[in-house]
Amino acid sequence: MKPVVMDTTKGLRILIRNFEMRDIKRVMEIEEEAFLEGDKDLYIELYREWQEGFIVAEVDGMVIGFTVLVLTPEEEGRVFALAVDSRFRGKGVGRALLKAAFNLLRRYKIGFVRLEVRVSNRVAQQLYRSMGFVETGFVPFYYKDGEAALLMRKVL
Ligand SMILES: CC(C)(COP(=O)(O)OP(=O)(O)OC[C@H]1O[C@@H](n2cnc3c(N)ncnc32)[C@H](O)[C@@H]1OP(=O)(O)O)[C@@H](O)C(=O)NCCC(=O)NCCS
Repeated sequence: MKPVVMDTTKGLRILIRNFEMRDIKRVMEIEEEAFLEGDKDLYIELYREWQEGFIVAEVDGMVIGFTVLVLTPEEEGRVFALAVDSRFRGKGVGRALLKAAFNLLRRYKIGFVRLEVRVSNRVAQQLYRSMGFVETGFVPFYYKDGEAALLMRKVL
């Protein structure tokens, strides 16, 4: 993807671009703060598998959020991870990252995108619903700590 400077729906000017290896430290800081369950090696592996699917948002030269997409064997997109630095939440960055992800998947003629989200994570669920995701299932004990996941899917 070509880097794009844009204003979020909340008026924050951000740069959206592909992840580069030098971003890994910041990405892992944001990921750890957000209590996602990935690890560094897995992120690097996913990046190597599909570099375009790893997208970051930057403000003043600092990475403040990221999303990682993977392609499933059924040729659907999957949002593997999405997180925004807590100091920059609520400013439209998550929404902008998802929009960039959908545009990328559409360019690859992918028809659906799906994801899993913790049942307790109302903020993320609200964001996904507002972007057209619908609930398609429920997986008990999906996360390491035993929490269940909601499955959500969207037509692109
Ligand atoms: C979920 C997350 C990525 C959203 O990113 P964000 O940049 O804060 O989200 P946005 O500012 O783009 O908000 C988009 C929507 O999310 C919802 N939302 C955001 N903050 C919210 C809050 N504090 N309370 C309720 N809803 C909220 C709203 O529906 C909002 O819509 P709006 O634009 O009409 O206000 C961010 O909260 C985060 O990193 N959370 C921790 C990691 C996580 O949960 N990742 C998702 C795992 S599936």
